[in-house]
Amino acid sequence: MTSPRPDQERCPVAVVTGASRGLGLALATELAARGWSLVMDARLGDALTESTRGLPGGPHPAVAGDVADPAHRRELVDVAAELGGADLLVNNASTLGASPLPAFADLDAATYLRLLEVNLVAPLALTAALLPQLRRNSGVVLNISSDAAAEAYETWGGYGSAKAGLDHASRVLAAEEPRLRVYAVDPGDMRTQMHQDAFPGEDISDRPLPGSVVPALLGILDGDLPGGRYRAADLLPVPA
Ligand SMILES: NC(=O)c1ccc[n+]([C@@H]2O[C@H](COP(=O)([O-])OP(=O)(O)OC[C@H]3O[C@@H](n4cnc5c(N)ncnc54)[C@H](OP(=O)(O)O)[C@@H]3O)[C@@H](O)[C@H]2O)c1
Repeated sequence: MTSPRPDQERCPVAVVTGASRGLGLALATELAARGWSLVMDARLGDALTESTRGLPGGPHPAVAGDVADPAHRRELVDVAAELGGADLLVNNASTLGASPLPAFADLDAATYLRLLEVNLVAPLALTAALLPQLRRNSGVVLNISSDAAAEAYETWGGYGSAKAGLDHASRVLAAEEPRLRVYAVDPGDMRTQMHQDAFPGEDISDRPLPGSVVPALLGILDGDLPGGRYRAADLLPVPA
């Protein structure tokens, strides 16, 4: 599924949120190289345009906006429809809420609500809005999760509980929508802005670049794994 089928008249269409850098950009770049049409977003339009303008097969629509904004989500859905309808939704955009990360005792309600809105409610609302297109195309939903959804790391309770909700919602959606394949994928640590923000001032140069996770995501797209939660590290070949 990562390349157009020979009998497919149109390019497959992927909506990738948070595509201006990090994992979103790395995946978008690989999908574009494989002939996908992309609909991408990020809040900062200039950075999004700058980083995605050279992608193969372009220009691909880069729609600046906040995934937590219903009007912006509607725009993503409409643009995908103009391209023939989404075959893939990658809910990748995410926030830490605060940097440095606070303990639950110090997590104020407004920050927690924003975390839940961006990391849980927005991906589910975007999925719901794209469902008619995804159903028509027997599509795939990839929700980018985190090990913090499953492990009880100190100070990761706000972010981790939002991602845990996303994991569970992914499983429910997979049960409700048998024509789709719905996954939550923990990518593991990656050397990105979000990771640096999580560990301010620390040297994170030993963390793998986000491109190293992309083969695991493409493997999911190409394969026939049942819907559910996966760790990218379990899907990548063991280094020799
Ligand atoms: N890096 C890690 O170690 C790690 C580990 C586990 C899980 N993850 C997960 O992996 C995914 C990718 O993270 P990353 O490390 O690649 O992050 P990143 O490099 O910081 O990139 C985040 C992307 O999301 C966009 N974004 C953030 N908030 C947004 C919003 N409200 N609406 C639209 N776009 C938004 C950012 O652009 P703007 O700022 O311009 O909006 C950017 O394009 C996330 O779901 C994250 O939770 C990361």
